[in-house]
Order: sequence, then C-alpha cells, then structure tokens
Amino acid sequence: MSFHPLMLYDPERFQRSERRLLEEGEPFTFAPERRAALDELLTKYPPDRKRSAILAALYLVQEQQGYLTANAVRHVGGILEMTPAEVEDVATYYVMFFKEKVGKHVVQVCRTLSCALAGAERVTEALSHTLGIAPGETDPSGMFTLLEFECLGACDRAPVVMVNNEDWHERVRPEDCGRLVEDIRARGPAASSGCHLRIERP
Ligand code: FES
Repeated sequence: MSFHPLMLYDPERFQRSERRLLEEGEPFTFAPERRAALDELLTKYPPDRKRSAILAALYLVQEQQGYLTANAVRHVGGILEMTPAEVEDVATYYVMFFKEKVGKHVVQVCRTLSCALAGAERVTEALSHTLGIAPGETDPSGMFTLLEFECLGACDRAPVVMVNNEDWHERVRPEDCGRLVEDIRARGPAASSGCHLRIERP
C-alpha cells in the first residue's frame, strides 16, 4: 500500500514509531509549596473533575524539576485520579512540556509559516552557530537548549524566539542572536524580561 501512486511504500519509514517513553527519573513528590498551589487550584473544580487541573499540575512539575519523568507522571496521576497513560497522553501532546532534561535557558525558535517566510531558519542557524549546538541539543555547560517550535501566536511579529516558555523576542534577525545569547549569559533570567521591547522594531 502507498499513499500516492508515485510514492514507494517503505515499511521502514512508515511503520517506525518515534514515540519515546519518558525516563523514570528520580522519585517525585511535589514540594510543599507546589502541592499547596495545586490543592488551591483543585478547590476551583468539582471533586469529580480534578483532571481539569492537568496542565497546571504538569507546569508545576516542570517548574520543580525542569522536565517530565515517568515518576512525576505517576505522582500527578495519583493526585488527579488519572492513569499514568492518561497523564502522559496530555504531556506528550503539548510541546511546551519537556520530555527530557533541558538547559537552564530553553531557546525556542518558531518555525511555522509566517516565521519561516520571515527568515526563522536563518535565526535558528545563527543561534545554532552561537551556541555551538544543533536544534534539539543542550550545550555541554547545561546552560542552553535550542529547540524549534510551532506557531507562538505572534505571526505579525515574525520571526519569534521564546525563552523559557515565558519571554518573547520578536522580529529577531540573525544578527541579533549573538547579542541575545550574550545578554542572557551575562545577566541570567533577568535578561529575558522585556527583551522583546529592545529587539522589536517598528
Ligand atoms: S508562525 Fe511564528 S508566531 Fe505564528
């Protein structure tokens, strides 16, 4: 069987699953303040709708240990009365949840159409060159991870780079990337705050 008369059927290519299991990780329980935050959120939902807090719970995991592990998924499932498979289904659907260890600063370049047309690939290349890593990799110091992302919803300000799922840099040019990386390196997370205001142009 083939998807197209001119497309050769290649079982190696079409039947290979790229799904990877989450690593087990360290034993996981929420730190008291994060558990309290989750419990507070759960009061907003009916008792039989605890699972509605799943995204918030996964963000709390990520805040605590940087990425999701199988142990954390089981812990969240126990609290929200979901099976680990149900939690993992959600976790693996959303790209903002990291499934493996990432650097202190996760630099994500949007690669969807508007950003692609505005030169996102050149921005990724420049970041890759500056950081010395390919997209998907973390530098040896554990400071930076470079990722390509899908539409961040700021298509009119393409290309967009997001740092740590929080701070946005808009209309980024390849020549801005060295300065952006050095700024984050020198000033840490504070450099992310409002960076887009410096990089954004009329
Ligand atoms: S295409 Fe990049 S933000 Fe929408």
